[in-house]
Amino acid sequence: MSAKSAGEATLQYDGKSISLPVVEGTEGERGIDVSRLRSDTGLITLDPGYGNTGSCESAVTFIDGEKGILRYRGYPIEELAEKSTFLEVAYLLIRGELPSKAEFAEFDNEVTLHTMLHEDFKKFFSAMPKSAHPMPVTAAAVAALATFYPEPDTEEMLQRAVVRLIAKYSTLAAFAYKHSLGQPFMYPRNSLDYASNFLHMMFAVPCEEYQVDPVIARALDLLLILHADHEQNCSTSTVRMVGSSRAPLFASISAGISALWGSLHGGANQRVIEMLEQIQAEDGSADRFLERAKDKNDTTRLMGFGHRVYKSYDPRAAILKKACADVVDRTGANGDIGQLLEIAMRLEEVTLRDDYFVERRLYPNVDFYSGVIYKAMGIPVNMFTVMFAMGRLPGWIAQWIEMRRDPAFRIGRPRQIYVGETERHL
Ligand code: ACO
Repeated sequence: MSAKSAGEATLQYDGKSISLPVVEGTEGERGIDVSRLRSDTGLITLDPGYGNTGSCESAVTFIDGEKGILRYRGYPIEELAEKSTFLEVAYLLIRGELPSKAEFAEFDNEVTLHTMLHEDFKKFFSAMPKSAHPMPVTAAAVAALATFYPEPDTEEMLQRAVVRLIAKYSTLAAFAYKHSLGQPFMYPRNSLDYASNFLHMMFAVPCEEYQVDPVIARALDLLLILHADHEQNCSTSTVRMVGSSRAPLFASISAGISALWGSLHGGANQRVIEMLEQIQAEDGSADRFLERAKDKNDTTRLMGFGHRVYKSYDPRAAILKKACADVVDRTGANGDIGQLLEIAMRLEEVTLRDDYFVERRLYPNVDFYSGVIYKAMGIPVNMFTVMFAMGRLPGWIAQWIEMRRDPAFRIGRPRQIYVGETERHL
């Protein structure tokens, strides 16, 4: 499917008038096609932060930020969260349709059989300082996959690379954590599902039995589903941009992981917990923090609040709020985590009544409750964004493949308005 024609817009400038085609997507979103603007007029568009710029046509994910709607390949996130597993959702995003039973069994088996890393990969981890943040370690490890496996140049090799990436990412992430602790790496277990296997590699040690709690494994699977794609956000646009130079898949995904690290994007989940802990350490009252977040002379922001696209409640945050209460109940509502959840819920309540946040239509985003769940699961705070990336992998892959197959494919290369010195001489 591609966008259909929806008339023309007229641009008048400098005594001239030109027509620009308007295109419409399948959900009625309209955009002015400016692809011939510069060649026809010499003008470019200027849109810092790209808030008004569509960089591509995409059939992967639909968001209506006004109504709080998120759909992967047409399926509402609420239905997928309730009825699917992460690997089914990965299949849906990457291949376009939900798998049949037989298709899923084959995909699941392939992923399971590719979770082991080359033994030499252990040397990669031992070369990293133990104090390193796991995000750059994971980004570098994903880039390093390209040194072990050839660049795919056939469809079959590409599908193998996709499976390897999804399978090995969880092993890389768990190994990054084990290395930071100085504990032995735990090899993957083929008898476990994706989420359970990850929990096993993270938390088991060779000298003891470790039983994966199915409630925690299901909560992790849910988190991965909710993070699986979110159309053209910062990290996805990075993956597309890097891939547009024909850089290979692993290198493009590694760049996406780096983009996700920032505190205004995926790194916000770590910052949310740090914020809640700060409030807890002060006096448990959200008011002082809120005043700082509203003060224009203070750089503090209420982490986990606000979104470029959602101007209503982020549907992922709504699902997570409920899951969060369930996991905290399971792991100890009376302890530290229970207190953090209480602070988060109170903060949300106060904020949603506050004029500053109401006027700006700032609501909790996906990161607001995810950190509390990760913490309740025992995931260390500096691993939160690594977990986000694990969930986002299928989306990045789907968008990368879509970009490379797009008939309108071109290298990404924005323009600028130059404001430096005009010509001068020594
Ligand atoms: N706390 C306080 N004020 C905020 C917040 C916040 N979390 N978010 C936005 N605002 C204010 C801004 O100061 C601005 O106010 P002004 O109009 O008086 O200048 C107004 O709301 C609009 O904000 P922008 O920064 O212009 O919105 P933008 O779309 O550029 O940024 C962003 C979106 C980065 C998510 C922002 O809301 C933010 O910094 N939130 C906190 C970080 C966070 O939670 N990031 C995770 C996002 S979800 C994800 O990436 C997975």
